[in-house]
Amino acid sequence: MKQIIDVKTTTRNVDFIRCKADVLVVGVFSDAKKLDPANSQLDKRLGGAIGRLIKLGDFKGADKTNAVVYGNEKIGASRVLLMGLGEKDKATLDTIRKAAANAAKKAVEMKAKSVALALHNSFGKRFDLFAVGKAYGEGVYFGAYVYDEYVTESKDGRLSSLRVEIVDPDAAKLGQLKKGLAAGAVIGKSQSFARTLANRPGNVIYPAVLAAEAKQVARGLNRLSCTVFDKKQMTEKGMGGVLAVGSGSQHEPRFIVLKYSPTNKAANKLPVVGLVGKAITFDSGGISIKPAANMDEMKLDKSGGIAVLATMKALAELELPVRVYGIIPSAENLPSGSSYRPGDIINTYSGKTVEVQNTDAEGRMILCDALAYACKQKCEVIIDVATLTGACMVALGRYNAGLMGNDDELIGQIRKASEESGEKVWPMPSGDEYAEEMKSKIADLKNIGSRWGGACTAAAFLRQFITDAKWAHLDIAGMDLIPNASESSSAGSSGFGVRLLTTWLMNLASGKK
Ligand code: BES
Ligand code: ZN
Ligand code: ZN
Repeated sequence: MKQIIDVKTTTRNVDFIRCKADVLVVGVFSDAKKLDPANSQLDKRLGGAIGRLIKLGDFKGADKTNAVVYGNEKIGASRVLLMGLGEKDKATLDTIRKAAANAAKKAVEMKAKSVALALHNSFGKRFDLFAVGKAYGEGVYFGAYVYDEYVTESKDGRLSSLRVEIVDPDAAKLGQLKKGLAAGAVIGKSQSFARTLANRPGNVIYPAVLAAEAKQVARGLNRLSCTVFDKKQMTEKGMGGVLAVGSGSQHEPRFIVLKYSPTNKAANKLPVVGLVGKAITFDSGGISIKPAANMDEMKLDKSGGIAVLATMKALAELELPVRVYGIIPSAENLPSGSSYRPGDIINTYSGKTVEVQNTDAEGRMILCDALAYACKQKCEVIIDVATLTGACMVALGRYNAGLMGNDDELIGQIRKASEESGEKVWPMPSGDEYAEEMKSKIADLKNIGSRWGGACTAAAFLRQFITDAKWAHLDIAGMDLIPNASESSSAGSSGFGVRLLTTWLMNLASGKK
């Protein structure tokens, strides 16, 4: 099978003019009155080609646009890629991340093997250089990603590898850029890993396969261990929620527990973290079956669990000093003679009983066991990630994940990490009114509420399985899928959550919060 494009990242101390590369990437603001000094030097050597392009109005520096100018013997690069950065005051770190992604995608399309990034030069001292390097790293992996491992008809061959350098004539700036780039590359690579796993369909990835992937990730990394409970072990432990959801499929469920235990003493001063991710390898709805249209997209219903796995990978590679559990309940939700049914009452791991009213509300059935398990492991801060409700998508579209929780400080930290990572979240409620709707007459809880506020009632259901911990819930329904290719991404899994969670962990580890 084809491997995804291998991206290699470095920094280089070189003048923009002399820099040899297949593509040199520079930024242009839409409201700039004239070219900045570096671009104007390039323009001179190119005989005014950049200036003419702009004067003709063919390129205005608008966000998401770009233009190529070909090099000559007076500069080192074969092409100069002008990236539009939009209005100067509105630009953020995400502008750099997206422009880097756009440039990497363009390089892959042009089959350019080496890319030199000089975008940051336009921003002067505006951003912290570590953060710029990190955004670059995250962006280039994101933009260069293509999922084509099952495409056997070779379309005049695509790039197998891409070399990306951050270039700067000022050696003093490169130190922090390089550190940031190293972290960004780890995160970017993990996000690509997540996208590939998520893009693989239900006949390829089912719970046992996902568990084997998790084991393999742990095998390759120090301080990361992986334990997997199979059906028999889950039965012994009383994980009735995961077992019920998995009972309709030939592919039996698994309960995956990753544990990262750093040796660094600093970790003991920080709370034990539990990351919990929903991994339904395919969600047909079960007996409460879904309509046929777009049901294929439900192969992505494992995205939360995969985001947790990829975050654990990044965390261990970055050797962050935080103790973290990655808890991934995994099942396939199918209708059959052995499926769980509407009306069933399930004994969950916590001891609470749940009346099933809709088998398509299966995410909360597996998450409740996993959250209770995280509490039992004495996790002090728990964040769960799940493609949980269509209602969240109705509320927020594909632009923001829903963010609920029981602790304002934690919510604030996640919102900050969201700003820094460019993975957007929006706060939503999940308080007592919503919990009231989840009461059953014949069990402790039921698994659906009324017609309204479905994302909030789902979160309110989960909340009841948290004992003492600080808890946040990310409903990523809608955020898991990029339905159409854009200038900065191919279509398919987004890998949403990997940047957000890893950034949050980096902040926690550095005491920045
Ligand atoms: N996996 C779905 C939620 C989903 C929908 C994710 C669309 C991504 C895109 C979830 O298991 C589900 O089916 N939820 C039901 C809950 C309902 C029965 C209370 C839903 O949202 O319809
Ligand atoms: Zn469902
Ligand atoms: Zn689901």
